[in-house]
Amino acid sequence: MMNFDFYNPTRIVFGKDRLGELDDLIPKDAKVLVLYGGGSVKKFGTLEKVLKGLGYREVVEFGGIEANPRFETLMKAVDVVKKENIDFLLAVGGGSVMDGTKFVSLASQYDGEYAIDLLRDRMAAFGLTKALPLGTVVTLPATGSEMNCGGVVTSSIGKRGFRNQLVFPKFSFLDPTLTFSLPKTQVANGVVDTFIHVLEQYATYPANAMFQDRTAEGILQTLIEIGKKTIDNPTDYELRANLVWCATMGLNGLLRAGVPEDWATHMIGHELTAMFGIDHGKTLAIILPSLWNIMRDKKKDKLIQYGERVWNITSGTKEERIDLAIDKTREFFESLGIKTRLSDYGIDASKIDDLVKALEEHNMTAIGENGQITLDVSRKILEGAL
Ligand code: NZQ
Ligand code: ZN
Repeated sequence: MMNFDFYNPTRIVFGKDRLGELDDLIPKDAKVLVLYGGGSVKKFGTLEKVLKGLGYREVVEFGGIEANPRFETLMKAVDVVKKENIDFLLAVGGGSVMDGTKFVSLASQYDGEYAIDLLRDRMAAFGLTKALPLGTVVTLPATGSEMNCGGVVTSSIGKRGFRNQLVFPKFSFLDPTLTFSLPKTQVANGVVDTFIHVLEQYATYPANAMFQDRTAEGILQTLIEIGKKTIDNPTDYELRANLVWCATMGLNGLLRAGVPEDWATHMIGHELTAMFGIDHGKTLAIILPSLWNIMRDKKKDKLIQYGERVWNITSGTKEERIDLAIDKTREFFESLGIKTRLSDYGIDASKIDDLVKALEEHNMTAIGENGQITLDVSRKILEGAL
């Protein structure tokens, strides 16, 4: 096991009908900015419950944060924070709203001239020492943003990630019933995103991290068990509760402790979202099977372990076992209604040059756990995903 720090200060408030407890978790005299997306929280009554939970505090609303949140939109929220002297941010939504709120938290306290620098240079956001406190009310189980300190924002310089420990949410409300209104395809995206978060921290090379491996395998098996069921039975509380908790635990630092991490599927996937607007979860389902096929030698031991422990693949040559593990994974995504080929989304070989160029522009020239996914390898992965 490698050396590691584990730090996670986010309080989780899990369960139904608990939004009244917002009142206990935000300072009484705070002026709160409630941030949300394109309107689902109004339509399904979540915003109303949140406003009630905030009691008599002064509240300002900022709606309209789009999926894959845009820098320009978030800077409008930064203006509101400054003009209204806001001192607490409350994100009500999915990963896009939570990530957007984290960015507003940092950008509103940034003294530099150009807030876009927080996205241009990973270290710029990382080094900030001031941020506005924030909490979240989760409506989409997928990204794990509710219990980590990272975010992803889209701007003129691409879809870029940032991190800073100051933007760990102070608290996150996980009420599975708030996710009942999700369209099937968003639930499926959430299952796949969570599945692949776990794999980005698992399917690399052995590090003798027995707890992390078994926990990862437990989450993967749970998702296989409940994924389709929770899509087909959207108001089954127990199924959805398990998805919600898997999503949070999949990317809160627990699994990455002491192990190598990949994240190349995410980096290539971000280019697909930026260029073609494909949902985040779907981009991952396109890239992962092809990436594993191309990187099979480097990942051999963990892919065989994954096949055996998660899919019960116990016979055949090593190559056959890896092939079967990849096939089973692809079939799982497809069984959830998520297509796994670029051609399924109308993308053909003529677009690969542009995608590789974008990776180069974004310095994604040596990605994966060993930095061995060069632009040439990314090209092969994209070709294999056609
Ligand atoms: O905008 P509204 O009207 O609210 O509709 C949203 C949106 O259209 C809808 N929705 C959310 N909750 C709903 C609902 N509709 C009905 N009922 C509900 N309860 O769902 C749509 C998608 O929402 P979005 O927040 O974009 O989805 P998701 O949670 O998948 O977030 C995706 C973003 O998170 C980033 C992705 O790159 C992407 O930008 N990620 C963030 C990570 C992190 N912070 O750690 C890690 C991830 O790997 C990921 O990169
Ligand atoms: Zn993801």
